[in-house]
Amino acid sequence: IRTQVAIIGAGPAGLLLSQLLHLQGIESIVLESRSRDAIEGTIKAGILEQGTIDLMNAIGAGERMMKEGFVHEGIRLRFDGREERIDFPELTGGRKVMIYAQHEVIKDLVQVRLDTGADIRFEVSEVSVHELGGTRPQVRFRDRDGVLRRIDCDFIAGCDGTQGVSRPSIPAGELSIYERLYPFGWFGILCKAPPSSDELIYAHHERGFVLVSTRSPEVQRMYFQCDPTDKVENWSDDRIWAEFNARLGSRDGWKLQEGPIFHKVIVGMRSQVVEPMRYGRLFLAGDAAHVVPPTGAKGLNLAAADVRVLARALTHYYATGRTDLLDGYSDTALKRIWKAQRFSWWMTSMLHTFPGADAFQRRVQIAELDYVTGSRAAATALAENYVGLPFDGL
Ligand code: DHB
Repeated sequence: IRTQVAIIGAGPAGLLLSQLLHLQGIESIVLESRSRDAIEGTIKAGILEQGTIDLMNAIGAGERMMKEGFVHEGIRLRFDGREERIDFPELTGGRKVMIYAQHEVIKDLVQVRLDTGADIRFEVSEVSVHELGGTRPQVRFRDRDGVLRRIDCDFIAGCDGTQGVSRPSIPAGELSIYERLYPFGWFGILCKAPPSSDELIYAHHERGFVLVSTRSPEVQRMYFQCDPTDKVENWSDDRIWAEFNARLGSRDGWKLQEGPIFHKVIVGMRSQVVEPMRYGRLFLAGDAAHVVPPTGAKGLNLAAADVRVLARALTHYYATGRTDLLDGYSDTALKRIWKAQRFSWWMTSMLHTFPGADAFQRRVQIAELDYVTGSRAAATALAENYVGLPFDGL
């Protein structure tokens, strides 16, 4: 099989890249190890930055998102027995975010790709990459009918996340890895209940962090900080609600809306970046190259940002034969990635309770929250990162 760009992974990065290339007349094949049903049903985060919303619309995948997504103009920070609001449009010249679940983004991207004639191969296995140092790299895989196949291409995009084959295919010693592990995880639930708040609540409490998010008027998404080695089986619905209530407190007139819980998951938290995001003709994008802790919801948005840069570089190459933008891909993408890393690490550090933290650290955390919500300059710094930093030169 011959194509211009072989894309490994049908997540947000791979699907967006494939559509961006298609719109520039560049052919690709997308390989995915899971089934279409599986990728369209996996529950993940749900916040889209303004730039991601704009990108979905620009590539013709935004119609359902604009109808069914919920625009949010701010968040609440709850700490020390009070709740303060950060107003995004007011602080960022009108920018907002959208609540729209990642698996809905995936459904829309798969649909728009299939409608535009895409070649997406689901349920492939034994994917491997070869000849990365030359001009004719190859991807080998077994298709879902068990047939071994080979793709000859010009470039390979590794969009296959942290567990994929792309990153480990780069020889050890070629990559630098920068990493932070956090001594806690998030316990996430979905429940059938009305919203408890018209905006997301990020709550700092000595028992641990809580995030009150939403998916729709009927379905709520909530998280609480937990021991990363804990098991969901240890948490009955009653115990979960007791923990949420203990951390959120009952404030004047406010009450947490409870309901049947139909999804429970524990996610680990870490920050990681690999540099450079390229080896020969293999380019990494999204989680294959970097991981953020979930606080601040940057993961999907960073993947979208990477493929914007990569699609532009590939388009420039096919139009002119020049490799300057491809050569600059890693540096260009990493500049913005590191800022998002800093923001995710900072939000995580400010809001969580660190095991073993002493009274001084805890007082400084409260002071930081007080400062962030009391100073327009500090609130603006949070808001402009939350809605998404600009794309230099894009
Ligand atoms: C959600 C996840 C996040 O990590 C976040 O910061 C906000 C919202 C969510 O899943 O709704």
